[in-house]
Amino acid sequence: MTESAKPAPPCVFVIFGAAGDLTRRLLMPALYNLRRGKLLSDDFRIIGVARGDKSDEAFRHDFDAGMRQFAEGAENGAEWKWLRERVSYLKGDLQDPATYRALGEQLAKIEQHNVLFYLATPPSLFAPVVTHLSEARLLQERADGWRRVIIEKPFGTDLRSAKALNCKILSVMSEKQIFRIDHYLGKETVQNIMVFRFGNGIFEPLWNRNHIDHVQITVAETLGVGTRGRFYDATGALRDMVPNHLFQLLELTAMEPPTCFDAEAVRTEKSKVLDAVHPFGALDAKRNVVRGQYAAGAIGGEAVKAYRQSPDVAPESKTETYVALKLMMDNWRWAGVPFYLRTGKAHGTRRSEIVIRFKQAPLALFRDTPIERLTPNDLVLHIQPEEGVTLSIGAKKPGPKVMMGGVELRFDYKDYFEVAPSTGYETLIYDCMAGDTTLFKRAEEIEAGWRIVQPLIDQWSERSVDAPSPYPAGSQGPEQADELLARDGRSWRALLGPKIS
Ligand code: BG6
Repeated sequence: MTESAKPAPPCVFVIFGAAGDLTRRLLMPALYNLRRGKLLSDDFRIIGVARGDKSDEAFRHDFDAGMRQFAEGAENGAEWKWLRERVSYLKGDLQDPATYRALGEQLAKIEQHNVLFYLATPPSLFAPVVTHLSEARLLQERADGWRRVIIEKPFGTDLRSAKALNCKILSVMSEKQIFRIDHYLGKETVQNIMVFRFGNGIFEPLWNRNHIDHVQITVAETLGVGTRGRFYDATGALRDMVPNHLFQLLELTAMEPPTCFDAEAVRTEKSKVLDAVHPFGALDAKRNVVRGQYAAGAIGGEAVKAYRQSPDVAPESKTETYVALKLMMDNWRWAGVPFYLRTGKAHGTRRSEIVIRFKQAPLALFRDTPIERLTPNDLVLHIQPEEGVTLSIGAKKPGPKVMMGGVELRFDYKDYFEVAPSTGYETLIYDCMAGDTTLFKRAEEIEAGWRIVQPLIDQWSERSVDAPSPYPAGSQGPEQADELLARDGRSWRALLGPKIS
């Protein structure tokens, strides 16, 4: 989506699970931001489907509060009024065919055949909703109108369930109608990875095993499990974050340049990265992977209870809230270059970043600075909350002796661009309306992600598996994660305060 993007084609936006948190917190504010950016057509309509008994007006009223909370200043503005007037409500049970008949009747009354169905439902309803839509003939496209479905994460809980879900949905619609969402791809800084790599001539020649020592990908959160204990205790950090968000960052960092910026070309190159990941054998799964679980601690001066004390979490839970892994790639660009990935909850700092560590200068020419004290050349792509890029280099310290000190070259998004308020869903929704699948995942990409982590899921589901290593809330993770890199003579970039401000 660019500043000069045209309004998306007109459509009816049907939200299943319209009473849920995602709709209120992210979808409605994203639609509002799109309208503010003049990116919704005048013929845009929204139908919310949920179980509660309420009028259109009561349903709209529910959103007023959400907009107050999540889209500051929106509530009294003309754009919100515009959007609000286009919202209607349909009461219905998503397991009942009558709901889809009623929806079909509502759609028939609106003279608009383009329909986007957004599945903001619990994952157990993805297959049933799609099946009902198909049985009610609501997925049939015509020359004058498309039918598309956005499916939220988690897409399956392991390889088998992801394959079964793909098989089910592909039996009733074509791949080009399916938009499997990963909200990380909606982030500007994530989309910038490709622009940074392929829109500049200077990085690509260095972007390979000849010049790069290793890569670190970190997604650290300060949030604990909060009230999501029921979901999280059955899921864990690996399933929740790795095959989806972390692998997106890995793919964009490691992919080959596509032949053009076309959806199929980009998605093909991204998928090849996952195909090249060296599979985990039983030994690697033990040696190259660390699981952690947060214990009691403090974040920002506030005491935090241990994960096991959270609501709906088993008191003896062995679910990991942290995972670190070392991956190797079987391809010419990356052979021998380790990719270290880590993600966890309840850290002292929120930070998502990709660190490209370049190889050191081969000789210590400057006798007063031994080679081990040379500043490492780290190119850091800051994803969030800081947004930008930094490159650390060595420079001469002023004075009569030639001594080196570390300095940083930095680009901070907000110094150069006006950053419009965004939930991260705007681009994804707009692209779906425009029929652009570049930022969505194909069936095989989803399955390749699960295939990589499946040996870990299998090993960890055994009853005899060790409990994850504890780390205090507010810390950088378990010591074993430091050892994972120390074994290779490396260390994680510290997770301390903001890096760019
Ligand atoms: C979600 C996970 O997909 O991503 C959450 O289910 C996690 O557990 C969230 O907190 C992280 O997203 P973001 O955009 O805050 O980094």
